[in-house]
Amino acid sequence: MTKSAPRRILVTSALPYINGVKHLGNLAGSMLPADVYSRFQRLRGHDVLYICATDEHGTPAELAAQAADVPVRQYVDEQHEIQKKAGEDFLLSYDHFGRSCSDENAALTQHFAHVLEANGLIEERTMRQVYSVDDERFLPDRYVEGTCPHCEFEKARGDQCDNCGRLLDPVDLIDPYSAVSGSKNVEVRETRHLFLLQSQMQDRIRDWIEAATDWPPLARSIALKWLDEGLRDRAITRDLSWGVPVINPDGSIREGFETKVFYVWFDAPIEYIAATEEWAKAKGEPEAWRRWWRTDEGAEEVDYVQFMGKDNVAFHTVGFPVTILGSQEPWKLVDRLKAFNWVTWYGGKFSTSNKRGVFMDQALDLLPADYWRWYLTANAPEGSDAAFTWEGFQSAINSDLANVLGNFVNRITKYCAAKFDGKVPEGGEAGEAESWMVAELETRLPQLVQHYENMDFRKAAAETRAIWAAGNEYLTKAEPWVKYKNDVDAAAVGVRAGLNLAALFGIIAQPIIPEAAAMILDALGVPEDGRTLSEEAFADIPALLDALPRGHEISPPDVLFRKIEEEQVAEWTERFGGES
Ligand code: MF3
Ligand code: ZN
Repeated sequence: MTKSAPRRILVTSALPYINGVKHLGNLAGSMLPADVYSRFQRLRGHDVLYICATDEHGTPAELAAQAADVPVRQYVDEQHEIQKKAGEDFLLSYDHFGRSCSDENAALTQHFAHVLEANGLIEERTMRQVYSVDDERFLPDRYVEGTCPHCEFEKARGDQCDNCGRLLDPVDLIDPYSAVSGSKNVEVRETRHLFLLQSQMQDRIRDWIEAATDWPPLARSIALKWLDEGLRDRAITRDLSWGVPVINPDGSIREGFETKVFYVWFDAPIEYIAATEEWAKAKGEPEAWRRWWRTDEGAEEVDYVQFMGKDNVAFHTVGFPVTILGSQEPWKLVDRLKAFNWVTWYGGKFSTSNKRGVFMDQALDLLPADYWRWYLTANAPEGSDAAFTWEGFQSAINSDLANVLGNFVNRITKYCAAKFDGKVPEGGEAGEAESWMVAELETRLPQLVQHYENMDFRKAAAETRAIWAAGNEYLTKAEPWVKYKNDVDAAAVGVRAGLNLAALFGIIAQPIIPEAAAMILDALGVPEDGRTLSEEAFADIPALLDALPRGHEISPPDVLFRKIEEEQVAEWTERFGGES
């Protein structure tokens, strides 16, 4: 079997806003699947770079800092560390977790603005903005709230309605009021801003999206809907103080923009590139980012995959690509974009602003990361929204992890310890039950790989579980404990295959539940280089049932998963609200 060449895969997940630790809905629709995918591709033997960062500019940051009553700079410094830790605790395997307020991002954002303007894609225009007379300031984006003109939701934010999900223009809100002071003494005033002329790129973008037939359907359909409505030119600066300053190519502040900065949605996606620069600098190879992003310097062969919630798709299929393509410089464009629907929380939405639902740090106070990672992947909001329920969570953990996987590993390792001295037994010949198991794996393992390649996470989790379940069925057929009484060699075959299956189950579990998988593989003494999901590793499936060296010593792992009790469900429902 010839070894296939490793691919280079760049993975980014939408950058979480800095305004507090993210809830499980955010996690399930961006960072977690990006991590699972990155882990899978690394285990396939590919060269993966997974980049994420905090999105630190704009009104979410300013408003949250104000609510916390600390200077913005201090707020973002603190929150970045908190989010970084929450991600690490959730076992998110970023290669770098950057910050959109970095110098790298400011420089690159200003660079793009300059080349876009030189290419005729940015111009200064006068626009109408909501101005608060009492606060003596303009109220961009989230600084203004009011009634949504589409769905009449009364607490719509200026940039987006949390109820119907539509993107809004603050001046369209009905009964607007200041989010800073609550004052209704607001009026529309004129102010000058830079506009990105997206309308001029309509055909370019359409051609690109239409050619992207290998994207998962959700992202592409959202992009096409935007294109059908016609791309509109958008203001890419705001009347705010916190953000990337608008400068001239010589470094001086642009006239008339002394109290303005770039719009957060202009600089945030650029941070994908800038964070890669931050990563390169941190590892002492300041130019190493270029081969991931510059198509003239090796990035042509990179496979770039983005993960995000559906409300982010427009910015990633229109806004950012207009920046990239409009620059006419050789930057890497996304190859496949995976979007997610929402995780719903008892009839409503998880919400950071309204503190509804469970947040990443709280979740880990209750149970280990793997439990949440499993449930949120197996129930990923892919085809439609997915409802979080405590009962659903309990049953996924108790049934899939504790019963199907945990029991299998415990049972076979304990039996081996009791009857075979804790050593992988010799003796006996594979028979019918083993052939059945091999046939199962021969169909299921390639399907598992395919689901991951397609970024179908629910299916990948379901297939993983189906393989574990097949193992249980195998043990029922092989019955080593019954055979042991008359024919130790026949029992040895079952125990040997069972131990090897336990190892395989740990191997395929790694992308989703890395911690428990490591416990299983450590207990079975599987060496690091024997833990891959590579093509070579799966080339000879019958050999997988006899991969651990015979005579090799194993030890039963500690309890892998604890079942969730009824009382816990009751307590958490009470504590986090299980009602809408
Ligand atoms: N912070 C945004 C959100 O949570 C996502 C930004 S993605 C980026 O919706 F790429 F633009 F940064
Ligand atoms: Zn609405």
